[in-house]
Amino acid sequence: MRILSGIQPSGRLHLGNYFGMMKPAIELQYEGDTFLFIANYHALTTVSDPKALRLGTYEVALDFLACGLDVSRTAFFRQSDVPEVTELTWILSTVTPMGLLERCHSYKDKIAKGIAPSHGLFAYPVLMAADILAYRSTVVPVGRDQKQHLEVARDLAIKFNSQYGEVLTVPEAMIKDSVAVVPGIDGQKMSKSYNNHIELFGAEKETRSRIMRIVTDSKTLEEPKDLNGSAVFALYSLFATDLERQEMADRFKAGGHGYGEAKKALFEKMWSYFEPFRKKREELAQSPELVESILQQGAERARTEARVTLRAVRQAVGLE
Ligand code: TRP
Repeated sequence: MRILSGIQPSGRLHLGNYFGMMKPAIELQYEGDTFLFIANYHALTTVSDPKALRLGTYEVALDFLACGLDVSRTAFFRQSDVPEVTELTWILSTVTPMGLLERCHSYKDKIAKGIAPSHGLFAYPVLMAADILAYRSTVVPVGRDQKQHLEVARDLAIKFNSQYGEVLTVPEAMIKDSVAVVPGIDGQKMSKSYNNHIELFGAEKETRSRIMRIVTDSKTLEEPKDLNGSAVFALYSLFATDLERQEMADRFKAGGHGYGEAKKALFEKMWSYFEPFRKKREELAQSPELVESILQQGAERARTEARVTLRAVRQAVGLE
């Protein structure tokens, strides 16, 4: 199994990123050959401040390394340190039907949100396909929102192969239904763009206050409560054991317990869960040169693979 995933450096990571993508990717590193990168070329489609892009990239690197990414098993790198990917993007773009990209929801959604419709934004799925295909990935763990992009990558690989011969490996998406949707503090899907997120490594006061603001219904303290479907309980469940969840649900069903209590329990769980990671992150932040050298080594490993693919692709299409 060749496992690959990427994440955009669009600011500090939150619980939605962690349970949707980071944790599954970190667990998968023991099941195959893993490649994980920070998608800074992709981020350029929406981030135009160079300082923000640079800092965002570094912060994501710290977050992943702090949360247990094992660089002896995983090639961890910056997307832009493997320029072969942009060459593959161009070649793939020549077999990409316009209609395929025009149907992509994420492009339409981004434009609806007011993001300028640049060519880069439109071609985003082709770059993503190149990421996946350059490393001959077989399994791609992503959140549900990336499902269509994965289908584009598969379509392009199949199209390329039917035109030029069996050169590219057709990947499979891996979407974990159980953790795909993490609610934000307003009950909608957690996302930075809705500003309903809880950062993994936010300051204690801010984290507590965001948790205390999680929406609930307006039942009085005395009333019995069914926690199923509530955002606090869904978030608590991500950290708690089955027994702890059951205990909390039973207590609330009996009445006499307020949501504030569940929020406090959630805060305590989350804070202690990330405690060791927080320590690790503080240590790493002391040595940016170590982080840089890890990313460089990851890129070397990734480039070796990408070069093999590009060689075959260049020959197949007649550039060599
Ligand atoms: N588009 C993905 C996201 O926003 C990030 C990404 C870029 C990616 N290239 C990828 C994910 C390749 C998986 C594989 O989440």
